[in-house]
Parts: sequence; C-alpha cells; structure tokens
Amino acid sequence: MDNRIYFFDTTLRDGEQTPGVSLQTPEKVEIAQALVRLGLDVIEAGFPAASEGDFEAVSTIAREVRGCTIAALARSNENDVTRAAEALASAERSRLHVFIATSDIHLEYKLKKTREEVLAIVKHILEFAKGKFDEIEFSAEDASRTDLEYLCRVFEVAIEGGASILNVPDTVGYMTPEEFGNRIRYIKEHTKGIEKAIISVHCHNDLGLANANTLAAIEAGARQVECTMNGLGERAGNVAIEEVVMAVKTRHDHYPFDVHINTPLFTRTSKLVSKLCGVAVSPNKAIVGANAFAHESGIHQHGMLNNPTTYEIMTPASVGAEKTSIVLGKHSGRHAFEDHLVNLGFQLEEERVNELFVQFKALADKKKQVYDEDIYALVMDTMHHEQAFHVVQHDYHSDQNGYVLASIRVLTPNGERMDAAVGDGPVDASFRAIERLVNTPFVLEDFQIRSVTVGKDALGEAVVKVNYNGRRFQGRGVSTDIVKSSVNAYINAVNAIYLAKELEQEFGNQEG
Ligand code: KIV
Ligand code: ZN
Repeated sequence: MDNRIYFFDTTLRDGEQTPGVSLQTPEKVEIAQALVRLGLDVIEAGFPAASEGDFEAVSTIAREVRGCTIAALARSNENDVTRAAEALASAERSRLHVFIATSDIHLEYKLKKTREEVLAIVKHILEFAKGKFDEIEFSAEDASRTDLEYLCRVFEVAIEGGASILNVPDTVGYMTPEEFGNRIRYIKEHTKGIEKAIISVHCHNDLGLANANTLAAIEAGARQVECTMNGLGERAGNVAIEEVVMAVKTRHDHYPFDVHINTPLFTRTSKLVSKLCGVAVSPNKAIVGANAFAHESGIHQHGMLNNPTTYEIMTPASVGAEKTSIVLGKHSGRHAFEDHLVNLGFQLEEERVNELFVQFKALADKKKQVYDEDIYALVMDTMHHEQAFHVVQHDYHSDQNGYVLASIRVLTPNGERMDAAVGDGPVDASFRAIERLVNTPFVLEDFQIRSVTVGKDALGEAVVKVNYNGRRFQGRGVSTDIVKSSVNAYINAVNAIYLAKELEQEFGNQEG
C-alpha cells in the first residue's frame, strides 16, 4: 500500500465555522496561498451554495491559486453540486466534496429519511456529478456513529458512482483511537471496490482525541487526513495539521509514513491564520504555541543548556519557531541565571553571581516572568554594592489630606542614621527625609521613572539627577515598587556625590 499521507485542509471551510470567524475573500486567498506553500495536497475553499460570499471566495481561489487541488463542499442535492461545479470551473484541479449524513440519529432527526432513501440519494447525486469535476470525494457525515455494515453499503454505492476518495468523519468527536482504527480496518475489509479509493478521515476534537484518532486511522489504512491550521473548526475544532504531521515525523519509528509538508513554515502559517481569523493560539498549544519551545523549570533549563535533546523532541527550527527560549522565572536555577548573565555580557565573580541570584529569586517571586531587561537592571542597580549609603528601612504613611510622612533609616560611613519628613506624596516625602538625613545642600534637577519590562508586575526604573556645588550627579534605582526605586535612585545619587569625595566633611570619605 502507498505509504504517503495526503493532507486536505479545511481551514477555509470547517475552520471558518469556528464561532466568531468570518473571512473576506482576499483573506481567504492569502491563507490559501500560504497553505500551498506549506505543501497541502487539497484545499477546501468553501461551500459555494451556502452564500454568495462563499461562492465568490471559492471561484476566486479556484482562479488564482495554483499548485494544489481545490475542493468545494456540497450537500447531496443538484443545486449544491451545480454551484460547486460553477465555482470550481477555473481550478487547476477540481474536487467535489459531497456529503450526506448516514447515522440513524441523523437520518431520524435531521434528514427524516430511511437508510434505503439515503442510498438512493447517494447513487443519484454521483450520477449527476459525474464528469463535472476532476475527482469526487464522498463523505458519510457522522460516520463514526453509523452502523458499520450500512456504512460499507453506502461507500460501495459511492465507489460505483465514481467517488475515488471516501471520507469517514468523526463529526461529533465521539471516537476513541482503538474504536476508530478498528472502524477503518472494518471498512477496508468489508467494502467492495475499496482498493480503487483512498480512505480519508476527518476528526473533530470534542474529547481532545482528534490527533490520536487520526493517527490510529492512519495506522489502520487511512491515507488522507482532513485537518485545519491551529485546529480551528466547529466547537472544539478539527484535528490540527501541525500536530498530525509532527507526530508522524517525530515518531517515524512508530508511524513509518511519508508526509510531504514543508514543516518549517508551520509557525508563520499558524500566525497568519490566527491573525486573519482573529483567534489567538493558546500559549501551550502543541507545536505552534508560544511556549512550545520555552523552558522555565531550573532542572529543565540545566538539561537544555547541556544538551537540548534532554527536554526537546523536535527542534524549534523544524517547525519554524524561534530558537528555544529559556524563560527565567521562580523555577529557574542558578545555572540558567548565570548563562543569562553571560549572554547579557556580564562575566561576574562567583560570589557576585550568588548575590545577584538571591535578588533574582526574590524578584521572580514577585514577577511571573523575569526578562533580560530586568536582569540587566538588577546588575546595574547593584553595580556599586560597596557604596557608602544603604537604605536599611523605609516607611511612609499618608493622612486624609494627602500629606505623607516618610521615615528612613540609612547606613552611612558614620553609622546608622534615621530621619523623617512630610511631603505631598510618598516620593516627595522620602526625598525630603533623605535630604535631611544627608544634611547637604544638593538640588534635585530631574526625576524620571519608566517601566523596564511589560505587565503590571514590571520593574520600574527611577533615574534622578542632582546638582551639588555646580556639578551634576546621577542615581538609578530599580524595583517592582516605584517608590522604592525612587528612594534607591536618590540614595545612589548621594553615593555618587560621596564617591566624588564631595561629602568628605560631613561623613569622612573612606576612599580618599
Ligand atoms: O464534520 C463533518 O462531518 C463535516 C463533513 C461535512 C465532512 O465537516
Ligand atoms: Zn467537520
């Protein structure tokens, strides 16, 4: 048996049935072109009889998109088939995808027809469609809940009528992998003429089993997979092409099948579909989620830095993702932290790295993610750790009129000192308390505060510029609390003055 798996994409048809998704024709054409580059064998461009818009989209895609077969969906009636033929008239290669429900539930409650009547409809519609398309695919809707013996009879009629692709949809995502695999095997063994046709599967993900069911069907003999990008589709969606393909490629030892898909285009195609459809991809989505190649735990990061195969079963490049990101957070270890420091250009002594690691852990406890800018700010903030003035304690309280009383305890070259002041805000009051404590006439000239990273838990960086005896000094402070970063910045400006030996009189400069 041919080992090649053919991929039929229904992002533009079943995918567009995702609640809230409605694509315009130019967007559909853009997606179709991207799917051709990805290597899809068939693109289901839409359901021409459903609306004028769908008809226009299918005919535009049929006219403009080259390099793959274009399919159009139709119910088993003459009008739908005629509209599909008209819409596909200029396709390089056209496929009719005609369907009818076959399960007793659908026959009784939806179609209100007997099994015999449905068989007659299939026979008639295939006779009607003959010669109007390059090929015909027949789908038995709700096949997974259809009586197996009857399903084989329906497929036999379809094969006799000229269908060369027989689709077995798990319309409601009800199957388990073992059941679905057995169903495909049964169809293969009990349908006359099946060797002339390709068995196709179309799995919905209601129980999260779409990929497992598809793979089981492939093992049992299915050779066409109907799928969507990012797993878009009705309700919980359809099977995601990226998941089926990467499972077959990554576990080729288990699934020895050929897939002709240009996998490095997965990430960019996923982003395009997500953007145009307005449906975000969950960060933990397999293959194309933002976290699919991100590692946070210290143990994993350590392993990854030694050898990526410890925690990665495929390379980011194989699906076009950016290189593995080691996300620093509270689970990161010292090894990954030091690696980040080196990447940022800091070659620090072990003791210094240890010190910074403690501060990083404290920061990571407060923030969900620690970015490179945060680490950079941490290192810069503590660059002059041996500085003369350290804030030991800082508090502030406000009254009902908006006045704030700030108190500050600082370790100075002359021992610990404490002072307090009132201001019209926490920063103002704290700055006044520092000025009283240092008791030196410097003047604040500039004060700026900005967020170093993103999110409401981002680090705030404060920068102050002060003038002392006609000279300008600068101080910088970083914290998730902007009052604290302001206080640190002001104290660091005092340190800068002290380092310049200007505060010798008051505190006795030890450097000199
Ligand atoms: O899920 C389904 O049964 C379908 C058919 C039209 C193939 O989408
Ligand atoms: Zn479907």
